[in-house]
Amino acid sequence: MRRGAGAMAAISLAPLSLRALAEDTVQYELTASPLSFAPASGPAFAGLAFNGSIPGPVLRVVAGQRFRARFINRSGKPATIHWHGMVLPNAMDGVENITQRAVPSGEEFDYQFVANPPGTRWYHDHVRGGLVRGLFGMLIVEDPADERYDAEYALVFHDVPNLATVEQAMMGVSPAPMVDPLGSPELREMLPDDRMGDEVSYVAHCINGQTYPSTQKIAVTVGQRVRLRVLNANPTQTRYVRLAEHRLTVTHSDGNRMEKPLEVDALRIGVAERYDAWFEVTKPGAWLLQGLSSEPLAYQQALVVHTPGFENASPAASPQSLAGVDFFSYESAGGAGDGEPRSGGTAYDFTLGGGEYGSDKWTINGKTYPNTPKIFVTRGEHVSIHYKNTTDMDHPMHLHGHVFRLTGVDGKQLARPLPKDTALVRAHGGTASWAFTADSPSGRWLLHCHNDIHMMDGMMTEVVYRS
Ligand code: C2O
Ligand code: CU
Repeated sequence: MRRGAGAMAAISLAPLSLRALAEDTVQYELTASPLSFAPASGPAFAGLAFNGSIPGPVLRVVAGQRFRARFINRSGKPATIHWHGMVLPNAMDGVENITQRAVPSGEEFDYQFVANPPGTRWYHDHVRGGLVRGLFGMLIVEDPADERYDAEYALVFHDVPNLATVEQAMMGVSPAPMVDPLGSPELREMLPDDRMGDEVSYVAHCINGQTYPSTQKIAVTVGQRVRLRVLNANPTQTRYVRLAEHRLTVTHSDGNRMEKPLEVDALRIGVAERYDAWFEVTKPGAWLLQGLSSEPLAYQQALVVHTPGFENASPAASPQSLAGVDFFSYESAGGAGDGEPRSGGTAYDFTLGGGEYGSDKWTINGKTYPNTPKIFVTRGEHVSIHYKNTTDMDHPMHLHGHVFRLTGVDGKQLARPLPKDTALVRAHGGTASWAFTADSPSGRWLLHCHNDIHMMDGMMTEVVYRS
C-alpha cells in the first residue's frame, strides 16, 4: 500500500497546447487503490485513491473531443466512475446496477464519450463508500469560447471524515455537530429542538489534498486576473470560500456559464457544486484563501495567494464568520423577483422528508429508493420539478446526464435561471423549482441528494426515458 500525503501534484492549469487542442481523442488511465492518507499530523486515514492521490488527477479535455478513460479497479471493493455534470451515453454514466455492473476489484472497465458540455465537472466512484474515502477528482472540459485569464487554478475542497460517524449518521445517531460558520443561513435556520444525528465529523480539512500551512501557494503579480475553478467534494457539508481583501466574480455555476456574472465576498458551495470565479490582483501582498466553518480545525483549509516578495509574509485572513459578508446566493445570481416560477410542461412535486433523530430514512414523497416516484419522459418533453424541504437539513439535489435551469428558490422566481446539475433546497420549508428538456441520450438517469448519507438512506429517484 502507498503511504504519504498523496496530494494532487499541481493546481496551476497551464493553457492547453495547440497540439492538445488538435487531438481527436484524449486517453486517460485511472487506477483505484488503497492509500494511507495523512495530510496533517495525526493518525493516517484508510483512504482510496485514483492514481495514488486524493483527490485524483485533474483530467482535462476540450469540448467535442473524444474522451477515453480506462478504469482499473484495485481498490478492494466494487467501484464505478460517474462523470458528474456530463451529458453522455447512459451506459457511460457509471451507476452501479442501473447503467452498468459495478466493476469488481481486480477488473477493468473502459469509459468513452464525446466530452460535452464544456465546464468544470468532476468524477467520482458511485458505489457506496468510495467517495467518502477519496475516489474523486476534477474533470475540466475546456470551452474554446471562454474568456482568457492570466492564470487559472483548480481547487478541490475536501475533508477527511471520521468513518465511524459516517456509519452513525446513516442510522441518524451521530454526535457530530453542525459546523457552518457563524452568521450562515444554515445556523440561523436551526430550531432550538433540532437534534441532528445526521452530520459527519471531519478530522482534517484540505485544499487539493493538503492542509495549511503545507498547502501549495499561489504566486500572482499585480494586474493579473486569476480564474479559480472550485469544487466542494465534501460528502455532507456546504462550504463558504473567501479570499481576504478581494472580491470574487462568479461566472459559471456547476461549470455552466451564467447569464450574468455576480461579484461577491465569498462563495457558498453546496456538496458537489462547482463555481468558476475570478479575482484581480490590485496591490502587492499576501492573503489567505479559506474555507470557512466553525470547526476548530477549519484553519487547515486555506492557502496563501501572494505577489513577489511576499512568499513568507504573514497573510491577511478573514474571520471564520459570515456576519456582514456578501456571499453568493441563487437569489442574487439569478435576480430573484416576486411570483412563483411558472411551470412549463409536465410538473412534478417532490416533498423531501425523513431524517428524524434515530431514523435511517431520507425520503421523497414519503418513500425511499427504489420505491420513490419516478419521472417518465418522452423525448423533447419539458419537465419541471418543484421541491419542498420539510426536513432540518439542506439537500443538494443532483440530476445525472442533464443541465437543468434553476427557475425558482423559496417562492421567488429567478429572472435569469441558473444552469446547474446540483442545487441546494433549503431546510425547514425551503422550496426550489427546476426546468429541463428531455433531450439527453435515452436511459435511466439518477436524481438524488448528493449528501452521501441522505443518498444511501433513500433520497433518490430516476428520470427514465420511455424508449
Ligand atoms: Cu456526483 Cu449520482 O453523483
Ligand atoms: Cu439531503
